[in-house]
Amino acid sequence: MKVLITGIDGYIGTQMAQVFISAGHDITGIDTGFYREGWLYNGVKFSPKVITKDTRQITLEDLKGFDAVISLADLSNDPLGNQDPKNTYEINHKAIIRLAKLAKKAGVKRFIYSSSCSIYGVAKDGLVDENSEVLPQTTYAKCKLLVEQDLKKLADNNFSPTYMRNATVFGASPRMRFDLVVNNLSGIAWTQKEIRLSSDGTPWRPLVHILDVCEAFLTVLEAPEKLVHNQIFNVGSTTGNYQIKDIAKIIGKVFPGCKVSFGKSDGDTRSYKVSFEKIKKTFPKLKIKRTVEYSAKELKDIFKKVQMSKEVFEFRGFTRLKEIEHLKKTGQINKEFFWN
Ligand SMILES: NC(=O)c1ccc[n+]([C@@H]2O[C@H](COP(=O)([O-])OP(=O)(O)OC[C@H]3O[C@@H](n4cnc5c(N)ncnc54)[C@H](O)[C@@H]3O)[C@@H](O)[C@H]2O)c1
Repeated sequence: MKVLITGIDGYIGTQMAQVFISAGHDITGIDTGFYREGWLYNGVKFSPKVITKDTRQITLEDLKGFDAVISLADLSNDPLGNQDPKNTYEINHKAIIRLAKLAKKAGVKRFIYSSSCSIYGVAKDGLVDENSEVLPQTTYAKCKLLVEQDLKKLADNNFSPTYMRNATVFGASPRMRFDLVVNNLSGIAWTQKEIRLSSDGTPWRPLVHILDVCEAFLTVLEAPEKLVHNQIFNVGSTTGNYQIKDIAKIIGKVFPGCKVSFGKSDGDTRSYKVSFEKIKKTFPKLKIKRTVEYSAKELKDIFKKVQMSKEVFEFRGFTRLKEIEHLKKTGQINKEFFWN
């Protein structure tokens, strides 16, 4: 299929392009390139076509001839969204709905939206599934809900959106992110040999490996339309719900000589356990299989190969908020996050 991926130069997009091209799809990407300075290791085989453009400026012409759009471009975490709600709404909500409307007009049938399990919000007993109430707590998560709601209104015989509520992602990508819990704790374990959690680490987080996410998107892209039309899928596996303290313990074991300690409860309310039974039942051949332990080992091997220093681990290009603050402070992007 001819597929357009927005946010292709991000953490997930970089790996997704490789997975889709390997599967025989014709990939074009659009990305404004906020994080292009952050490249941890040489790990790509294919070079997709990439158009450097802001999603807010995509035109009808850009979308003609595609079979599907994968929407990844976002200000992609809570701290970024909370710091600048106005730009977050513009990029994470309005631009995506505008993109979807243009895609529909251009005759693009499939639209796969990268949503998030953070949409479920505050602590709840038991497992939440796709039918559970959603209580997004942050601007970032509220945008995820707004996009899902507005995309639903566009769904018809000519336009098939699918909403992928990803768990928090972990694992290696050349365009690395160290602001995600498993990657961050692995980097700390490597550079400091000590993980000291300031909290008690009791909140639950659903986690999923980056390649499992890419394979889930590929499965949905290739699935018969009737299975995915206007459907929400939690992306992860039910065994992938971890307490933060257990993530720290697993990583502590993989990195030799790493000590692990905990503090007191910090009142973090973003605790939830998620059911991933729907994606498993709908696509029995899709195996969401990579564990935190697998990934800690994978990351340790990469850190060793590139001899990752503390400076590299802390480099702004690997932390979304730090890089955006740098681009603003140095006047490289303006108040609306357009390049100067
Ligand atoms: N990483 C996770 O844990 C996770 C979990 C759930 C959902 N998601 C979602 O998946 C998607 C990708 O996440 P990621 O971790 O790869 O994030 P990322 O920040 O690494 O990548 C986002 C990409 O979008 C680009 N971008 C941002 N604003 C843009 C704009 N206005 N125009 C064009 N390009 C723009 C950035 O330059 C970047 O390359 C996001 O929508 C995110 O919300 C991620």
